[in-house]
Amino acid sequence: MSEPTVLISEADIQRRVTELAAQISGDYAGAGEITLIAVLKGAFIFLADLSRRLTVPRRIEFMALSSYEEGSVHSGAVRLVMDLREGVEGRHILVVEDIVDTGRTLHYLIELLKTREPASVRTCALVRKKDRHEVEVDIDYLGFDIPDVWVVGYGLDYAERHRALPYIGVVEPDDQ
Ligand code: IMP
Ligand code: MG
Repeated sequence: MSEPTVLISEADIQRRVTELAAQISGDYAGAGEITLIAVLKGAFIFLADLSRRLTVPRRIEFMALSSYEEGSVHSGAVRLVMDLREGVEGRHILVVEDIVDTGRTLHYLIELLKTREPASVRTCALVRKKDRHEVEVDIDYLGFDIPDVWVVGYGLDYAERHRALPYIGVVEPDDQ
């Protein structure tokens, strides 16, 4: 596998995360506590940076979903791997995702959360592969649109590699 080449620099990510946090803080001002639900594993670094820059009361929860077994080939189905520990009835939910590719994962998650009668559900994704979308899904807060390439870093992996890179880089997957 090739070494990653920079697509979005650390400085650009940090600037955009600060902007998103300001926008979210403004939109939710006076709404009471929001519940950030981060999708593991990829969103962990984005969540850490975003949540620390919010100025509204927030709690942090995690869920894990799986659609890619290994590498970059989509298995089609989405599987719930780890659920929330508590109910979210009446809560303002903000789903925090690393990347929206086909949209299946986020769509599945939103539909699942809606059945639990939250006060509201919004979505925040750091990056979206615009041309790849197969399922209609609203992203309320989006960091960047990117082309159809495999990206790693800032939480994102290729077969569990490169998650800790401070930037988002492109790799050539071996399995395509
Ligand atoms: P979707 O269900 O097709 O939208 O896929 C979303 C999930 O696939 C993301 O949450 C990631 O876990 C994974 N994914 C999709 N594209 C990439 C990529 O370029 N790099 C790393 N993970 C990706
Ligand atoms: Mg993800």
